Amino acid sequence: MAGNRTFTMIKPDAFEAGNSGAILKMIEEAGFKIVAMKATRLTPELAGKFYEVHKERPFYADLCKYMSSGPIIAAILEKNNAVEDFRTLIGATNPANAAEGTIRKIFAKSIEANAVHGSDSDENAAIEGNFYFSQLERVI
Ligand code: TYD
Repeated sequence: MAGNRTFTMIKPDAFEAGNSGAILKMIEEAGFKIVAMKATRLTPELAGKFYEVHKERPFYADLCKYMSSGPIIAAILEKNNAVEDFRTLIGATNPANAAEGTIRKIFAKSIEANAVHGSDSDENAAIEGNFYFSQLERVI
């Protein structure tokens, strides 16, 4: 059975553009409950750790630099079938390929500065949520 939590980040481009509120509104209107949230900023080292699975990819160094370039919002979201439904809500990695009405289609600037992160599996949602939030910082 699919899990009911996923993890998201509002990335530096969307935070800087003042789109965090509009994105969170879309997330809530799509039926997700925010069960943990904070504004923070990654160091390049922490961004490198978060995206470690991509460390052999050609875009890894730029991605770590970009993700530590400004503040972000990290959040854990709850909904039935959370991971898959949230990936549908945010759209394709490259906004040029994202469906109309998706968060990335509306707010992303490029494949790198693509407005939001969404976990790609229940296992990674748990790992990523634990990366940012202690037990006391989330709704149990
Ligand atoms: P990926 O896990 O493939 O995408 P998604 O975020 O949709 O799960 O890649 C992680 C992030 O890496 C992606 O959100 C943006 C960045 N990225 C690039 O900068 N260039 C690329 O060619 C790819 C595939 C991703």
